Amino acid sequence: MREPRISLTAGRTGTGKSHYAAWELEEYAQQSVKNPFIVLDMKPLNHIGLAALPRAKAIIIKKNTQRLNWKRIIQENPRLVVVKGKGVELETIISIYTQIMQICYDNYAGQHVLIEEAHNFAGLHDTIEPVKQLVLEGRGAGISVQFVTPHIQDFSKTVYREAELIIGKTLTQQDIEYFKGTIPNYENLNTQLKKYEFIKRTQEGETSIVRAGKRTTKHYG
Ligand SMILES: Nc1ncnc2c1ncn2[C@@H]1O[C@H](COP(=O)(O)OP(=O)(O)O)[C@@H](O)[C@H]1O
Ligand SMILES: [Mg+2]
Repeated sequence: MREPRISLTAGRTGTGKSHYAAWELEEYAQQSVKNPFIVLDMKPLNHIGLAALPRAKAIIIKKNTQRLNWKRIIQENPRLVVVKGKGVELETIISIYTQIMQICYDNYAGQHVLIEEAHNFAGLHDTIEPVKQLVLEGRGAGISVQFVTPHIQDFSKTVYREAELIIGKTLTQQDIEYFKGTIPNYENLNTQLKKYEFIKRTQEGETSIVRAGKRTTKHYG
């Protein structure tokens, strides 16, 4: 079994973080057709292309979507791309995704979850309970979580400390200060970054510059 992993991909809008996170998910999905995943997206299109992976299915939360039996849906569909349809309230989506994360934590050893706009679930002062459980205890059950956010200043420090970091080029002094404390040689690496490149800092503290390989599914982000 692969090592369960918590990762955080952060960067300004347009730095390519969703594209990169989805590429990592594709790599994992291609290792074995049995590898399960759940993508929790906050936009209608962004990651919908991932539903073209073998055995995967997309579910669009619409404005008038009735209550769904998520436990059953997850049981029947080991690879799910869940997306927020147009006009659906943020509160509704947060509540549904919270429920899904709780189900993953309670029932699914070996699950892999990708969470977009993750500051909504792992905020600086208000990280939801299932995220705390997934991050602090999920790896023991073989659960991996990929967090993606453009808002590092609003993001949970607890998750940040636990995560492998993948950071796009930073322009503001405030963000530079933020990463400087945890990533060795950060300022120097940051100035070297080209378009769609990221600084990666593993949980063991090793740093390198990385970029996504070729995507097999279409990215709409
Ligand atoms: N490595 C890459 N190679 C080519 N195009 C990329 C790459 N990374 C991102 N893009 C493109 O750049 C745009 C923004 O990428 P996206 O990942 O959606 O940004 P973000 O999530 O950081 O806002 C998209 O059109 C995407 O297809
Ligand atoms: Mg994005």
